[in-house]
Parts: sequence; structure tokens; C-alpha cells
Amino acid sequence: MTRNIKGIILAGGSGTRLYPLTMAVSKQLLPVYDKPMVYFPLTTLMLAGVRDIAIITTPQDQSQFVRLLGDGSQWGVSLTYLVQEKPEGLAQAYLIAKNFLNDADSLMALGDNIFFGSGLTDKLRTATQSDKGATVFGYQVTQPDRYGVLGFNDAGEVNQIIEKPNKPPSNLAVTGLYLLDKTAPAKAASIKKSARGELEITSVLNLYLEEGQLSVEKLGRGYAWFDTGTHASLLEAGNFVKTLSERQSVQIGCPEEIAFDQGWISADDLKASGKRLGKSSYGEYLRALADASGAP
Ligand code: DAU
Repeated sequence: MTRNIKGIILAGGSGTRLYPLTMAVSKQLLPVYDKPMVYFPLTTLMLAGVRDIAIITTPQDQSQFVRLLGDGSQWGVSLTYLVQEKPEGLAQAYLIAKNFLNDADSLMALGDNIFFGSGLTDKLRTATQSDKGATVFGYQVTQPDRYGVLGFNDAGEVNQIIEKPNKPPSNLAVTGLYLLDKTAPAKAASIKKSARGELEITSVLNLYLEEGQLSVEKLGRGYAWFDTGTHASLLEAGNFVKTLSERQSVQIGCPEEIAFDQGWISADDLKASGKRLGKSSYGEYLRALADASGAP
């Protein structure tokens, strides 16, 4: 059975770790080489086939996101804007998006997470067919104490998920992409704030784990995952995107291209977007794609 999966991009937060960069601009609108950061989680959701997407921002940043992304129709998707008044934790996203979700399952991407890998689309599509209540994506990291971390029993099964542990039980981090069933808002409503005052996503995931409903997909060697939470990781992500796109003359995180490949927009739409983007290399890229497809 095909699941009804809606998307959430969580793009609020105070961004204090990137001050002064984020004093006047939302972190998720900062450039990652040639594109605003939010293009990356957006295209991750699009690659998974998700077209009905809520974008959660701070109240003050919402208008900038609307200016950049509009209603999504230029990419054949529907964008709904929701506000998080205060950054009280990732799990709060499910409370804010409860009405939007309206009992649908959801794929939530953190607005500062960038995924890349040639097998990603297949992995996402396979995960959306899973009958488990929750699927998360694990990634091996050198500094697990910065993340939510997976712990395993002797049989190699996940037995705990701990947020930023002092003594990480493994080096497998939980990345910022969460495929959760329709019980997520109720679960988020049932958890308490952590010692640091946040509704932790890991608390919600632990409820799925207790129910035997958590599945972990490992993103192995062929994948890149960046969270752009520090100045250094932001630069690293930008360099990665620059290297790949220049070396192969392809765009990474291009919503127009993905929408076209999925058949959500026509070659004429692609051409029109290319025109709107003017003399930028991005505009040229879109026009070349449209030309290559034989558009008049
Ligand atoms: O990046 C993956 C990690 O993301 C996971 O491994 C952790 O389990 C998860 O808690 C989260 O950790 P971070 O320390 O990276 O979370 P951070 O507070 O930086 O928030 C991640 C993004 O979500 C960031 O772009 C800001 C946004 N955010 C955050 C909070 C707490 C919101 O929009 N609202 C919020 O209330």
C-alpha cells in the first residue's frame, strides 16, 4: 500500500552557534556554496517523492522563506508555512505540524542537514515502503557526542538512542531525517522536556524503539552527510558542493531539475525558471537542461 507521506522542514532555531552570521539572517538561508541551505533538505524530501511540505521557521524569518520559495508550484510541490514561536526542541515540530499532517505519516528533514549519495533516492523510497513506525538514518561520525547516538545490544540490535552522550555507546549518529508514522504528534505530546529544556526528538524515537517500531538504515561509505551547525562544517559542506558540482558539471540540490526528472514540471516550466534566474550559472544550467530535453 502506498503511504500518504507529508514533509516537514524544520528551519527555526536561534542559530546562536553561528553568530554573528545569523544575527540578521536565518541560518537555513545562508549560502552553501551556490544555493541557500534550505534547498538541500527541500530536495531531499523531493527525491523521496514527497510533495506536500510544511516549512517551520521563526516568526521573524518566515517572510524571507516565502520570498525565496513561494508556494512551491514552480517545482510542482505545495509549501505551507508554519511558525515556531520559540525553539523548544525538534520534537515540537510535530505539535506545530499536527493539523497540517492530519494523520498522515511524515518525513522530516532538519533545515541544516545536507545529504548526498547516489543511492539516496532508492534508500528513501525503500524506507517509505517500510511498515515500521519509524525509520531513521545512521551515519558513522568521529565526534558522536555532538549528536543523537544509537546504542546496540550484543545481538547488534538498537537498544537505546541518547542525545549528545558524554560516553557515546557507538559512533553511529542519528541524522536529521526522520520518517515517522501518524502517531508522531501524539508521541511528541506525551514526552517531557529534557534537562536542557528541549522536547528532544530522541525521546520520541525512544518511544518507537520501546514499541519495537524503530528501524535504522545505515548510510555507509558512499554517502556524505553534513550538518552545518558550526562555521567549519558550513564551509566543509560548501566546499563539498563546489567540488562535486564543478567536477561533474551537475547541480547538487536543484529543485527544478528534480521536479523535472520526477515529471512534476514540464520542459517549458524549466525554461521559464531558467529565464527568471537570468545570467546566473544556475539559470544557464536550467536553460541547458530544458534545451537538452528538446523543449522548443
Ligand atoms: O543534525 C542531526 C542532529 O540534530 C541529531 O543527531 C540530534 O539528535 C538532534 O537533536 C539534532 O541535534 P543538533 O544539536 O544539531 O540540534 P540543533 O539544536 O542544532 O537543531 C537542529 C536544527 O533544527 C537547526 O537548524 C535549528 C533547528 N531547530 C532547532 C531547535 C532546537 C529548530 O528549528 N527549532 C528548535 O526548537
